[in-house]
Amino acid sequence: MPYVVPYANRTAPSVKKTSVYLPEALKARLAAVAMRSGRSEAQLVRLAVERLVDAEPVRGSVVRTEDPVVRRHRPEPALVGLGMGPGDPGLVTARTVAELRSADRVLAPSTDLASIGRAEIIVREVAPDVAVERVGFVMEVGGGARSSALTAAAERVVVALDAGERVAFVTLGDPNVYSTFSCLAEEVRARRPEVPIETVPGIMAFQDLAARSGTVLVDGDERLVLVPARAGSDRGVLAAAAADPTAAIVIYKGGGRLPEVAGLLAEADRLDGAVLGELLGLPGARMAAVADVADRPATYLATVLVPPVRRHADGRVDRSPRQTAARAGRGAGGPGPDGARPAGEAPDEPGQVQPGARRRRRAAS
Ligand SMILES: C[S@@+](CC[C@H](N)C(=O)[O-])C[C@H]1O[C@@H](n2cnc3c(N)ncnc32)[C@H](O)[C@@H]1O
Repeated sequence: MPYVVPYANRTAPSVKKTSVYLPEALKARLAAVAMRSGRSEAQLVRLAVERLVDAEPVRGSVVRTEDPVVRRHRPEPALVGLGMGPGDPGLVTARTVAELRSADRVLAPSTDLASIGRAEIIVREVAPDVAVERVGFVMEVGGGARSSALTAAAERVVVALDAGERVAFVTLGDPNVYSTFSCLAEEVRARRPEVPIETVPGIMAFQDLAARSGTVLVDGDERLVLVPARAGSDRGVLAAAAADPTAAIVIYKGGGRLPEVAGLLAEADRLDGAVLGELLGLPGARMAAVADVADRPATYLATVLVPPVRRHADGRVDRSPRQTAARAGRGAGGPGPDGARPAGEAPDEPGQVQPGARRRRRAAS
């Protein structure tokens, strides 16, 4: 018997359905993809609809030579390093968020698979519906543990790439600056040289610190020098940078040697104006003048910024050139009221934070 549309419905302008019928075979394939990707079936259905809608051109503006949906779903394996910024979710770029959502798999480095790493925390803040898989990393340089972990991570990535997936790997800051991503990318490139490796830039801790402290980093002919200062680094490199008054110096990885770093800056008459930003945008963040906190080491996630010494036209020398008044002690995203050093610090990038730490920060701010 033919189906008769009731008269009232014939005049209805449109029918909006939010439930869909999926044939059994498609359901089974959907379940398999969900299992493999760690996402729920509902997430995958939403993602597919988003892709369809995003791919739809503005009516009449584009002549289609190929169905954009088909084109987008053709497997194009790639490894993408995503810069998540230093910690504040507000500093994650729109492009990084888009990549998080369009990747088939999102991996995050982790030194302890039972705890959440900092980059993963940021993903939860900016894209809570995206499932993140932790990949074990060993931060201690030297010894076989680090390279075994790296090999295992690369092989895991390769399996996903061979299945045609776009694999995203999240890192703090920028993926091209002292990042776990570059080591992983090298291993993957050695195994699958034909697979594209891309990166999406991220805001770096020193940029965040310059903004928070109101520091003009470089101007005119001044130079910017980024110096790693972990244990074992050549002391002479920092001394040489400090000897050049026209150089702005960013010191990374030097938190554990803060007293020594401060001493070296003092020797070169560069301590005045140097600012420390620790755990920027993360629980326990603080910002302070280096001279005020150099009696003890800071955490690994600490950055020191030393502005150039600027000579003004009237001969005045400015050793702490600030754009605005320094906000040391209150601008780092939630330091304690007394500027106290946070307890229970995680030692290394990609450091771990116990679940709930972010909640505590929110409650405190
Ligand atoms: C292994 S490097 C990672 C750098 C990162 N890829 C970037 O682009 O900023 C780790 C160093 O970055 C700096 N750093 C990263 N995140 C930071 C944060 N939230 N607060 C302060 N310093 C940070 C610290 O100097 C730390 O020792």
